[in-house]
Amino acid sequence: MKRDLLTIRDLTADEIRRLIARAQVMKREWAEGSLQPILSRRVLGLIFSKPSTRTRVSFEAAMYRLGGDCVFLTEKDSQISRSEPLADTARVLSRYTDAIAVRTFAQSDVEELARFSSIPVINALTDQFHPCQVLSDLLTIQEKRGSLDGLHVAWVGDGNNVAHSWINAAARLGFTLSLACPPGYEPSSEVLEWAKEHGTGTIQLTRDPHKAVLEADVLYTDVWASMGQEDEAENRRKVFREYQINASLMNAAPASAMVLHCLPAHRGEEITADVLEGPRSAVFDQAENRLHFQMALLEWVITQKG
Ligand code: CP
Ligand code: NVA
Repeated sequence: MKRDLLTIRDLTADEIRRLIARAQVMKREWAEGSLQPILSRRVLGLIFSKPSTRTRVSFEAAMYRLGGDCVFLTEKDSQISRSEPLADTARVLSRYTDAIAVRTFAQSDVEELARFSSIPVINALTDQFHPCQVLSDLLTIQEKRGSLDGLHVAWVGDGNNVAHSWINAAARLGFTLSLACPPGYEPSSEVLEWAKEHGTGTIQLTRDPHKAVLEADVLYTDVWASMGQEDEAENRRKVFREYQINASLMNAAPASAMVLHCLPAHRGEEITADVLEGPRSAVFDQAENRLHFQMALLEWVITQKG
């Protein structure tokens, strides 16, 4: 069976751990010059309907480092913009490429592509989930903290796509996730219900960011207005004012706690510049790990090894 990554729910805890371990090996092999071109003559198709810096470039660089190549398409440059059905696009791309990474709005569109593709489909971000981000963040945490055992992550801000993927990860791996979100901006009830039903993690919701970070190993935030929510940005700036990672919130957390942010960041909104640039922030190592994790993920979906 082909290996899609539409949400973290597609992976078992063991598969997540193996992918992280493999990414660590590939990262070391690349640094030593011993990484083999295991995806030689393989092609990754990327279809992006939203902007991207990290996800696009890390996928493209990962393919190149592994000896393969990429074709990048925006929705508007393809016939999707002229109403060619996703089902047809999926079947055609399946004949040209070895995997597809998709960044779009509706999760159902990624599901549709996966249903009609004979090759693996990777969710490169939807309104609902951002699995590649959170999986590579787990690699960063593993590296910095030494282990994922007994992990406690605090999410501060919008209950958005990245938060949803954190909930899936906590459920799968069985760690503690405390989310501080303002009223009306909590994670989706379907995502919370799934975690409750299928997961082993502890997921706590609060209104109080100080409470969420009290015992956290990781403080995590993301933009207040995600891509596609630009019209709501002004209102969200008011709603989320108290949901900022700043010096005062850092003081409420354990001294060893680190700060992560998927980026792009809006300094002075969800995070202050001093914290983002400060000694407890690992955001650029975190961004780098997107590349190392993508290598492991591409090997996993395309070669089906591991
Ligand atoms: N974090 C992340 O996915 O960044 P991009 O939007 O730049 O890909
Ligand atoms: N929640 C953000 C993540 C960007 C990487 C968005 O969807 O825009």
